[in-house]
This record gives sequence, C-alpha cells and structure tokens, in this order.
Amino acid sequence: MVSGSGSRHLAAEIRELLQVDASETRLRRFPDGELDVAVDPSVAGSDLFVMQSLGPPINDHLVELLLLLDACRREAPRRINLVLPYLGYARKDRRNAPGEAVSLRVLADLLGPQRIDLMVVVDPHLPQVESIFSVPVERLSAVPIIADGISDEVPPNAAVIAPDIGAMKLAQSYADELGLPNVAVVLKDRRDGREVDVSGLVGNGVRGPVLLVDDMITTGSTIEAAAAAISEQWNPSSLMVAASHALFVEDAVERIEKHSPSLVAVANTVPTGDLPLSYHVSSVAGLLADAITRLNRRQ
Ligand code: R5P
Repeated sequence: MVSGSGSRHLAAEIRELLQVDASETRLRRFPDGELDVAVDPSVAGSDLFVMQSLGPPINDHLVELLLLLDACRREAPRRINLVLPYLGYARKDRRNAPGEAVSLRVLADLLGPQRIDLMVVVDPHLPQVESIFSVPVERLSAVPIIADGISDEVPPNAAVIAPDIGAMKLAQSYADELGLPNVAVVLKDRRDGREVDVSGLVGNGVRGPVLLVDDMITTGSTIEAAAAAISEQWNPSSLMVAASHALFVEDAVERIEKHSPSLVAVANTVPTGDLPLSYHVSSVAGLLADAITRLNRRQ
C-alpha cells in the first residue's frame, strides 16, 4: 500500500489491521515548492492500493496524488486501486451559472483508466461519481460506524435532520442505523463559500432532541444556519451533529459551538487532530481495510 500525506493518519492504522508493511514513499519539495515524489520500485507486478485523502490543502494533495500515481505506474504494478477516504472537488457535477468550471468532471478526467483501475470512496458528496468516473467506483459509507459510536447517546425520540435537500438520503441512513422514525429537512440556499441562507424547514412532529447530519463540515456555515433555523422553529431540547468528513476550516468549530451541541460526531476520513477532544471521532480504517481485503480477493 502506498499512501500520500493526506491519509498518513489512516494508512498506519490500516497497515496494522492488515499486517502489511509500509511501502516506502519519498515526498520532497524543491525550494520553489514543486513536489518531488518517488515510490518503492518493489510495487512492480503487485495489486497496488494507493491512498490519499483530498482534504485541505487540496491542491497540494491532488498534485501529490497525480505524481504518486505516475511514479507507481512507471514501476508497472498489475493494477492500481485508488482509495480516496475523502473525495475533494466533488461539489460540482454541473454548472450553476454560465462560465463556471465543472470540478467533478475535471477530477474524473484526471483519475481515469489511464492512471487507475478502480476507485474506492467514502460518502462522496454526489452519488453520481459512479457514472461520472470511467473506472469502477466502490462507494463506502462511514454512517454505520459513526452511528454505532453514538448510539448510546442518541435518545430514541431524536429527529434526524438534513441541512439541505441533498443530504436527505444521508439523513435517512442515520435514521435507519439508529432506529429513529423522524426525518426532516432544512431548505438551504448557498450565498457563497462561507454563508448560507435558510428559507424554511420541512418535517412533522419534530420536538425533543435533534441530530443534524451532513456529508461534510467545511466552514460550519451550513450547520450554523440550520441549527439557528431549527432552534427558532422547533426549539429542540438538545442539538447533536454528525458528519463523515470533518474538514473544519477557518472558524468552523466556533460556528458550531455557538449552538452548544451536546454531541458532535465525525469520521477520520481527513486528519482530525485539531478538533476539540469532546468530539467523537470514529475511524474508517476498519471499513477501508475490509474493502481492501475484499477487492484483493476479487482481483
Ligand atoms: C453541501 O451541499 C454539502 O453537503 C455541505 O453541506 C457543505 O459543503 C458544508 O460546507 P460548510 O460547512 O462550509 O457549510
């Protein structure tokens, strides 16, 4: 297994679980910032797993990944399976206005059959990744692991709330995992990268505690705005928050803490070292190790 710097925190855990040795990777920088990447030539002929989380700094992590894939390909492994615990640049699968770039398309072109044979992703922002990428995509979810980690603390009368329509299926998955009957949704409009507006809430019988869930928390603006609207309309007895990808940039922690959540639960698809110690962090290492074992048997 070859790991980039975006997923070192997970690679060590996975190697331990699978009892495999680290494949040496050399990552150096030239003085002008260019990356210089090399992998262990012993990857030749292997069914190789290359792992990289495309979290911040995403552009560095993406270029590093492309160089890693190139270094691997030159040593002629039998197959290259790419494991992306967090798939960045996945927000846009279409233009919202003329003149915009479509980031997911660009990523799919970069990570195509010329570079990889298969891709494993965890809770991608858009389920369409399977049809957009031209290599086979294995979609995994951190929801069962996160739900399992908090099941003792989520009251049986809690309502699961999606902070936007796109997160409704995710909310239903949490409800199924935790055996919660009520699912509601916040109607959100994004103003820009840091601010969102809420135009309404849809759901019946929401009272008592609420569990607000999203695929990722970046600036915290979505959770902040949804929590404010929920407080105003439903006055919940407590607020809990769960998300798969804890990007937490800028003052995301403060924005969320403003609403005094009784619980915040995330997975470690990106490094979570800077989060408050009270946050529940569930590891996806076992999930990825199982997927690697399964794929290895199949190939
Ligand atoms: C958007 O549709 C996503 O599912 C998340 O709601 C969003 O990316 C979270 O970003 P932020 O924390 O900056 O609002």
